[in-house]
Order: sequence, then structure tokens, then C-alpha cells
Amino acid sequence: MAKQITPHVSWVGKVDWELTRFHGDEYSTHRGSSYNSYLVRDGGKTVLIDTVWQPYDREFVSRLKQEIDLREIDYIVMNHNEVDHSGALPELMREIPDTPIYCTKKGEAIIRGHYHQDWNFVNVKTGDTLPLGEHSLTFVEMTMLHWPDSMLSYYDGDGIVFSNDAFGQHFATESLYNDKVCEAELMYEAEKYYANILNLYSPLVSKKIQQILAMQLPIAMICPSHGVIWKDNPAQIVEKYAAWADAYQENQVTIVYDTMWQSTRKMAEAIAEGIRETAPDTKVKILNITHDDKNDVITEIWRSKAVLVGSPTINNGHSFAIAGLLEMASGLKFKQKKAAAFGSYGWGGGSVKQITAKLGEAGFELVNDGIAKLWVPDEQNLDDCREYGREFAKAL
Ligand code: FEO
Repeated sequence: MAKQITPHVSWVGKVDWELTRFHGDEYSTHRGSSYNSYLVRDGGKTVLIDTVWQPYDREFVSRLKQEIDLREIDYIVMNHNEVDHSGALPELMREIPDTPIYCTKKGEAIIRGHYHQDWNFVNVKTGDTLPLGEHSLTFVEMTMLHWPDSMLSYYDGDGIVFSNDAFGQHFATESLYNDKVCEAELMYEAEKYYANILNLYSPLVSKKIQQILAMQLPIAMICPSHGVIWKDNPAQIVEKYAAWADAYQENQVTIVYDTMWQSTRKMAEAIAEGIRETAPDTKVKILNITHDDKNDVITEIWRSKAVLVGSPTINNGHSFAIAGLLEMASGLKFKQKKAAAFGSYGWGGGSVKQITAKLGEAGFELVNDGIAKLWVPDEQNLDDCREYGREFAKAL
């Protein structure tokens, strides 16, 4: 079970190849995930860093026992206490109830709120250290990255950052390290993770990266709580985060729509033609929100400099799926992205006006009032959409 990472550190987590949904149904995990837990053995002292999700609690404790006599664990460090990391604590603490749990003050409150146990908590804050036999752990609070309790731990023995959710990816692998997996798959999952989970906190990400860089810690590896360990050039993911936190965008326009009888789809494709004619170097992606995965759509929006959102009018408003997407986009607080709406209607209309209003409320910079077409668009209507696409591209 355990995988030796350095002379002092072993991985003792759980790879979850079966996981398809995370955060309830909020996040799709097409490539599974892992819940990474680590054992640090240093000069006679042993620290367990984070645990795993509750469904794997017995397996985790049982395998941990094969690796170590649990009574030899001197300290437990909980960098973050969402259930995917703290879920095995009750099972573990039944075995070693007096072992001190190092976490932030918020972390203690969250553990108490979840498990209602009076364990031996030790609160730590930025700069606090836990001396081990020869080296030590230093704690850095990562407040709201992405929960109030989040922190990272730095082990100066081997230059390892235990970053918990930060720099993670929902990516199952038996290979453990970033240079042992498909780079394209890995980076897509890292981007999707940032876009869907961390983008909201981008201003905090920028400040925290500056703070950590100012500490000038020698970093040999970054060990997150999900996915691979960044062993080959670990600075690369820090540099990526710095770029992603700075209103990230590529030369891309994403057109996302819902359609009932194909009219709004035809509009989407005609608008795309217009954009391509005016801006041939711009990547244009057309996605149907009911066919494409919502989190993949959000990732494409995050990559884009502009989005067009379309829905037919239904019940005087817009579709259920587009409403869900707009709610997600609103919460993630994308910055410096332009947008507009489009859609077909049969009599009263209303979808374009509603989507435009919601895009504005979500922080998108509105390019115009959108375009609506009655019934099934004829060739003149489609020409109008092409022209609309040309004008939209000129405004970017
Ligand atoms: Fe991986 Fe916020 O838990």
C-alpha cells in the first residue's frame, strides 16, 4: 500500500479509480481521483498528514496498520477537513484516541462540527513549527483556498510542500508523479480543478503565492491531496497558478447553448462562422450544455476571452440547463471576459433578455443586447447571425 517518496516520506493514501462525481453532483471526475495521505518519519518521530474519504476509512486504517504500529504515530496533521480528507479520522481515532491533531483553529471547529468528538486538538497558524526528530514541519495558513481551515505544511527535511487541495487534480494514477502520466491529461485536470473550484478565490491565490515565494523555501516536491505529486519541476504548477489567478484567458470564444428544435443550434453555428471569418486565429468552440459535461463547459469558459450563451425561449424564460450554467459561472466570478446572448423564440420571447441580464450580474462585460430570431431561422436570419458574429469578433 505505502509508496516510498523520499527516505523520510511515504504515500499512504487511496486511489479512487471509480469516482465519477465529487462534491455531490457538482463536479465530474472523468479520470477518478485520489485522497493522498502521507507518513513522515523523522528521527524517531512519526507524523500522519491528512486521511482519506470516509467510504475508504476501514481500508485506510487497515492498510496503515500494515505499514506502521498506529501507536507509533506521534502527531496527526490535518491540513484541511472537508470529508474527503477527514472522513477516516473517526475510524483512526478509535485506535489512537489521544494522538494530537494539529490543524488551524477553523480546522478544529470544522472537525468538531462534523464528528462531534473532543479529540486532542493543537491549533497552529502561519509560521508555527512542529519539531520532529531531526527536522520540522512549518505551517502556512491557506485561508479560503478553498475552505476557511485550509493550510499547507512544509517539511524541511526533504523540501516537501504538503499543499492539500491546492495544486491538486482529480486524476487517478498508480504512477504517483507528474512526469509518469500523460501530460495533456494531467494539465487538463489541473485546469478543470482550478476553473471549477479555485477561480473564485483567484485574488487570494495571487497573494498567497507571493507570500510563499517570499519565504524562499527550497521546494523539491509539491504533494497535494488529490492526483499526482509534482516532482519534476514542481515550480511549473506554481507558475501556472500565478497565471491562472490573473484573469486567465486564451484567444478563444466559447459558444454554449441549449436547443429544443435546433433553431438555437443553427444560430450558434452561424454566429461561429461570422466570428471565424473576422478572427480566423481565434479558437471557437460550440458546446451544447445538455450534451457536454457542465464542468468541462465551465473549463472552456474559463479559458475563453468571450462567451456567447444561447437558449430558446421556454415558459417566457430560458432553459433549465442554461440557468444552471449561469448560476455556476456567477459563483466562480470570472474576470475580464466579454459576453452576449442569443436564442430563438416562437411568440413573446424573453430568453435573450434574461440571459443578458444574468451575464451582466455574473460579472461578464456585455458586448451588446444579444440577438433573437423568430421560429426556425431562414437564410436571411442566418446571414444576420453571421453578421452578428463578425461584429462580436470585432468588439473583442
Ligand atoms: Fe479535497 Fe476541499 O477537499
